[in-house]
Amino acid sequence: GVEAPKPVIVKEPEPEVDDGTKKVTIFFGTQTGTSEGFAKALAEEAKARYEKATFKVVDLDDYAADDDEYEEKMKKETLAFFFLATYGDGEPTDNAARFYKWFTEGKERGTWLEKLTFGVFGLGNRQYEHFNKVAKVVDELLAEQGGKRLVPVGLGDDDQCIEDDFAAWRELLWPELDQLLRDEDDTTVSTPYTAAVPEYRVIFYDPADVPVKGNNWSNANGHAVHDIQHPCRSNVVVRRELHTPESDRSCTHLEFDISGTGLSYETGDHVGVYSENCIETVEEAERLLDYAGDTFFSIHTDKEDGTPISGSSLPPPFPSPCTLRIALTRYADLLNSPKKAALLALAAHASDQSEADRLRFLASPAGKDEYAQWVIASQRSLLEVMNEFPSAKPPLGVFFAAIAPRLQPRYYSISSSPRMAPSRIHVTCALVYEKTPVGRIHKGVCSTWIKNSVPLEESHDCSWAPIFVRQSNFKLPRDTSLPIIMIGPGTGLAPFRGFLQERAALKEAGAELGPAVLFFGCRNRKMDYIYEEELNGFVASGAMSELVIAFSREGPTKEYVQHKMMEKASDVWNMISNGGYIYVCGDAKGMARDVHRTLHTIVQQQGSLDSSKAESMVKNLQMEGRYLRDVW
Ligand code: 2AM
Repeated sequence: GVEAPKPVIVKEPEPEVDDGTKKVTIFFGTQTGTSEGFAKALAEEAKARYEKATFKVVDLDDYAADDDEYEEKMKKETLAFFFLATYGDGEPTDNAARFYKWFTEGKERGTWLEKLTFGVFGLGNRQYEHFNKVAKVVDELLAEQGGKRLVPVGLGDDDQCIEDDFAAWRELLWPELDQLLRDEDDTTVSTPYTAAVPEYRVIFYDPADVPVKGNNWSNANGHAVHDIQHPCRSNVVVRRELHTPESDRSCTHLEFDISGTGLSYETGDHVGVYSENCIETVEEAERLLDYAGDTFFSIHTDKEDGTPISGSSLPPPFPSPCTLRIALTRYADLLNSPKKAALLALAAHASDQSEADRLRFLASPAGKDEYAQWVIASQRSLLEVMNEFPSAKPPLGVFFAAIAPRLQPRYYSISSSPRMAPSRIHVTCALVYEKTPVGRIHKGVCSTWIKNSVPLEESHDCSWAPIFVRQSNFKLPRDTSLPIIMIGPGTGLAPFRGFLQERAALKEAGAELGPAVLFFGCRNRKMDYIYEEELNGFVASGAMSELVIAFSREGPTKEYVQHKMMEKASDVWNMISNGGYIYVCGDAKGMARDVHRTLHTIVQQQGSLDSSKAESMVKNLQMEGRYLRDVW
């Protein structure tokens, strides 16, 4: 895979001897590695503080094979911590999904967790409606089922500085843990703990000595199952611009070829795409690191004698040996703002004392406001920050372990239906291209790659990317005769194009279709009205009964999808009353929030309900799976 596969966890029989050692389990549900990093950091510091305890960091997915095992093992836990991230519409990360479903939907269990003392730290973003929902829910349920809460649930906010939130939560934790994990007669004052900067062991090779290896992505004959760990190489076969030349923005229609790969998908699923940094970004990084791009090296998490490097929270290594150019292109996140831990790692390798001091200041409590302003609000990228501290030349083992996070796959709502395009995955992707407060043009890594990709149509030497499919519950009703309301401005249209393709195919096959209304929004008919002909075609063929469009920049006032929904309030209400489904896709922070309010208003007015009755009706729709959101 792109990322090295997770190490196989060999289940050692747990020694049941009671030597007074307290066992502590630290669970994490991670998507991008942040909560895994926090879990490991907590374990490292706790190990240094408490001799009479053992700390185990556990991926929630690896913990148990099924619900029964979750229950059986969880019952035996006496002290546990949970690091849980919340995504999208209040969902858990993929690796926590099974645990979360079991824990929240499981049978009534009473107070079966009486032996357990616990703490929960959540990773979320305050800009979103369901801020830290997963952590809050798990924290509540653990307490409800008899667990003893050691500290209040930590609400990490990635919109600000989540590292600070974690540090603050940890400070609350130590006095409580002291009570639990220290002997009464132990009066030693713990020395302040400073985490070691994580560092891979690096081996350099003479490029002449290294056999040229083919790409190591699995495809058809490799893994039977493709997932984030095992993506599948797919060619770009079609690429076209969806905006007209009059638009000053760009949106790309892309088609990946999945024939013969073993990849399959359902309408409404997501595709994860591993993209590459563009060459300018990579060359800038090589210059700042002061290494040549053809430097051949490998990274290792064990020492020369084969024992693991301890005392640090090393992320899993990427496949190596490879050239520095490849490593920077595929695996390093260079354009996001650096975390405080990255600044400290840079400081440790700055030869100029004043630069080191300034980096340490920015990462310190005293430099909190300055970090918030100079780094975060200014959207300074890692490379921009490194550019300001030219004496900081970290070794590669430090750079990849502690400074540049792993480049993450980007997720897109698939804009096709396998009934229409069984061997293709279509993507509809808006280009991220914006000026940051300090004047840098920020180009989104994956959307830029997509826009510049070369399709097979144009060249046999076409672009390809490692991709995988992520299932979603954003699905059409099983009963095709039920009404559906689709709300998707901009690229929020993507999954509905898939829905409409599916309905067109169903209709062709003789199915009876209920009414379907699409609320689409864009700026101007002449610029960004994407898939116009296709949408008209869906109306003509009867796959969709009504197409309602809000143009936000044509008239004197802004027209948004929610305004159009208000105009059609009685139709919307009738469809809901007839067992209809409502789907919303697109921007979570603005659009989906406003649409949610509008839906509430429509239900309240049309149903002549008071506000709280309207709210519970909307909640019910959500619970029944009739109000679904695919938002980002
Ligand atoms: P605007 O850019 O003119 O503000 C797709 O991006 C469409 O969604 C655009 O027409 C955009 O309008 C519109 N849009 C922006 N914010 C919105 C919101 N809060 N609710 C609904 N539509 C919105």
